[in-house]
Amino acid sequence: MAGIPSYRERMAWFHEARFGMFIHWGLYSLLGRGEWVMLEERIPAAEYAKLAGEFAPKKFDAFAWADLAAQAGAKYAVLTTRHHEGYCLYDSEVSGFTSVKTAAKRDFVAEYVDAFRRAGLKIGFYYSLLDWRFPGYWNPRKHKESADAMVEQYHAQVRELMTNYGRIDVLWYDGHWIDGVKNLGRFWRAREINAWVREKQPHILINNRSGVDEDLDTPEQHVTASKPGRGWESCMTMGDSCGWGYIRNNPNMKTESQLLQHLVTAAAGEGNFLLNVGPKPDGTIRKAERRRLRAIGKWLRGNGEAIYGSQRCALKNGMLGLWTAKGKTAYLCVFRWPGREAVVPLVGSKVRSATLLNSGEPVEHRIEENGRLVLSGLPKKPPHLSVSVIKVEFASRPKCLEETDRAAWLEGKAT
Ligand code: GLC
Repeated sequence: MAGIPSYRERMAWFHEARFGMFIHWGLYSLLGRGEWVMLEERIPAAEYAKLAGEFAPKKFDAFAWADLAAQAGAKYAVLTTRHHEGYCLYDSEVSGFTSVKTAAKRDFVAEYVDAFRRAGLKIGFYYSLLDWRFPGYWNPRKHKESADAMVEQYHAQVRELMTNYGRIDVLWYDGHWIDGVKNLGRFWRAREINAWVREKQPHILINNRSGVDEDLDTPEQHVTASKPGRGWESCMTMGDSCGWGYIRNNPNMKTESQLLQHLVTAAAGEGNFLLNVGPKPDGTIRKAERRRLRAIGKWLRGNGEAIYGSQRCALKNGMLGLWTAKGKTAYLCVFRWPGREAVVPLVGSKVRSATLLNSGEPVEHRIEENGRLVLSGLPKKPPHLSVSVIKVEFASRPKCLEETDRAAWLEGKAT
């Protein structure tokens, strides 16, 4: 279509970004038992709707969120403009169940867009196609009219979101699954609305959750790379995997090391890491989440070069950790610091220099005849407790030697 940039062009900022902040916030936050609470507890729609009369978060400050995201080193964010419960954090002409028409009397999406844009971050909108309040979602054949109305609502609301808030960078769909419907794209008339979206927002990236593939794969709660050339982003909760919205007692928060390693794993596979926070009902973000985000930001300030704009690296990953690359430069992101010496086998390119990325301290290096790269004179203790990065400049794009004879290494040969 004329005017729509190529996939490569549209993906350029996304590859540069590598790290985003996901935000799940809505009426469910009031209950503190996750965003599925309405369905899990089978709360009747009319009773659940009363929560909209209580949702008037006094301390909500989009600038504080944006500031935290920027401090974390995130380059974009994705906010739940509307989750499965159907409550909109923005003004919608086709629904009365919105934050503007009920107690809050605020367009949180508008505030979010303004603050995050000013902080220099790209803007993502999460939108759930399904709406639990429609009987047609639960039984589309029996309640055909209701199912059609739900699809109409989805199209109308996506049009609103794409029209009223300026340039939007990511359209993050969710909740397209319906029992008994095989062709989900057809049920939601996804091609039709997505084509309309692209006319309106030619630069936008659309994820794969409307029943058609579009631009981005979205592995959830695990970091798994798609094939080279295909954009992907892993989304993950900080705490237990069953909850994206605020969970008052959430005992299994991932450690700083675990989160950093997930980020590195995404970057090593040329993908992004979308890390979730579930703000409290009053609009503030809990300390446990703030602390982790700041720790990631601190690490990125010294080591971001290995992450932002990263490419896959052909060198061998192993027990030490993972490689990322940019052209002739490769970054060994070490998770399990070996002590004074680090060894990587089957290196088929000449090394120009090696340094500790964070401090710039030089690292001694040599490649043995069989292709073992030995990095030596390293500090005994890991320079960073979670992930320490050794930057290696090669004479050419780093190559891994192919082991044509798999037993050759026993005699000190590479192939
Ligand atoms: C799942 C859940 C939803 C969450 C989403 C995030 O699809 O249904 O609650 O928002 O994952 O990826």
